[in-house]
Amino acid sequence: MVIASQAGQPTADPSPSPQPGGSFDPSSPALWWRGAAIYEIYPRSFSDADGDGTGDLAGVRQRLRYLSDLGVDAVWFTPWYPSPMADGGYDVSDYRAIDPSYGTLGQAEELIAAAAELGIRTIVDVVPNHVSDQHPWFQAALHAPAGSAERQRFWFRPGRGVDGDEPPNGWISEFGGRAWTRTRNPDGSPGEWYLHLFAPGQPDLNWGHSEVRLEHEEVLRFWFDRGVAGIRIDSAALLVKDPDLPEVGDRPEPGEHPYIDRDELQEIYRSWRVVANSYDDRALIGELWLSDPDRFIRYLRPDVLNSAFNFDFLVCPWDAGRLRAAIEETIAVHGRVGAPATWVLSNHDVTRPVTRYGRADTSFAFGDKRYGIPTDLDIGRRRARAAALLTMALPGCVYIYQGEELGLPEVEDLPPDRLQDPMHFRSSGVDPGRDGCRVPLPWSGEEPPYGFSPRASADLWLPQPKDWADLTVELQERDPSSTLSLYRSALQLRREHPSLGDGDMGWLSTAPDVLGITRGGDFACVVNFGLEPVTLPPHDQVLLASDEMLKGGRLPADTAAWIRLPAGP
Ligand code: BGC
Repeated sequence: MVIASQAGQPTADPSPSPQPGGSFDPSSPALWWRGAAIYEIYPRSFSDADGDGTGDLAGVRQRLRYLSDLGVDAVWFTPWYPSPMADGGYDVSDYRAIDPSYGTLGQAEELIAAAAELGIRTIVDVVPNHVSDQHPWFQAALHAPAGSAERQRFWFRPGRGVDGDEPPNGWISEFGGRAWTRTRNPDGSPGEWYLHLFAPGQPDLNWGHSEVRLEHEEVLRFWFDRGVAGIRIDSAALLVKDPDLPEVGDRPEPGEHPYIDRDELQEIYRSWRVVANSYDDRALIGELWLSDPDRFIRYLRPDVLNSAFNFDFLVCPWDAGRLRAAIEETIAVHGRVGAPATWVLSNHDVTRPVTRYGRADTSFAFGDKRYGIPTDLDIGRRRARAAALLTMALPGCVYIYQGEELGLPEVEDLPPDRLQDPMHFRSSGVDPGRDGCRVPLPWSGEEPPYGFSPRASADLWLPQPKDWADLTVELQERDPSSTLSLYRSALQLRREHPSLGDGDMGWLSTAPDVLGITRGGDFACVVNFGLEPVTLPPHDQVLLASDEMLKGGRLPADTAAWIRLPAGP
């Protein structure tokens, strides 16, 4: 990537084009995942049709027109399978069915087809690292003796110490606390321990076991057969464990960690690729929190996964230099294997951008979540809107988490007795957890349930704030300056403009507090991170701005503009 530097003259230099394995035709539907706008649906909180206070598939069905008007190309459903909800559905007890609170398998099939008719593809979440403790395999393992075949599908081990009352090793759960729970024998005496990298209700599978591999390949086929266009792979780097279960050690070398990013994963995902390739245009999308770019990119080689979430961008603070570095690194690294970049500002695990960007520390880290951090939501909202325009202008695929398009803030004052997230409880209440970004969406009306549920008296699974009347879809649809209108306009332009979505980008020469990216010869996105307004580079037209422009066409602080550049010489 070369940076243009002639004063005031925007010149675009393309980033490296996709190389190995990357000869592609961006307009081909088979490569839809390279530039799609993908909307994440957290089904519990999207829309409730039956009035029980929990979102459901019939609710999504009723709102398909909303998604199509928004202009998204695909929806990703977080797990919709039967689950005791020990971790919001990421504890799956049956992959071939739908949780009764959401609906039925028939409704899911109809929904996939109805969405497809509107041009919206469906992505489902598969959680291969673990199952629910209610899954028949784990129940069978619990009822079988130590050393039995049933227990081989999981990680059962005797404890250490004289009475076996210490866990087999010192691994720590991703949610805090030990990663092992002790079982009880049928006679009530203490038994073996089992491994769970997340909550105790999520026992880890043993990926060295052939049945575990076969079962997941069948699950992929099950959903591909039902018209699903892609699979989001949960905790994709954690599946394989060193069978000796050694301690983690101080700073394991990449690939040497006992359970993160083990080399054997490549082979597993290659076999998933073979399954996906036996259908047309199906995408495999990894949730990979890996900081080493060389290791990360191995998963995106042409015979492994198609794409992965870009968490480096998500965690980045609101800072021109840091974001530019993250963008440059992303483009360079993906270019090495011809994979498309993805751009993500939020999801169901992280603090909502409106809140995060309104704080002194605008970065995101799981370990830093706390109650009572001073927040200026007005600044946060300005920045979140500007960030949205930046994100949707970048080359590759963009993800939008439900409610982001409404500018919803994190709900930080949920009543303690309504909280559900194991992350909160396993931190002894120090971490507020992730419930605050999962509150049911406000659709219409002046008070809860804001049209989320058809019954005014519905007791929602998480209560909504009393001051969300200004954030409803109904109100924002009527307001051309609303965040919803901004997202709609941006997604429409992104679809129509031939240079947006997948492709190359260049940089404009700008002041240090300003980022300017170009797409094609005639499009630029300029973002002002500084405190003072700036003059836009020469342009023919402001296509869209995240907030009102100032007199003389100057771009205010914390604002982004999409502009049409003059035709080149
Ligand atoms: C999901 C989380 C979930 C975890 C365990 C993740 O990365 O996004 O919501 O708690 O995996 O399944």
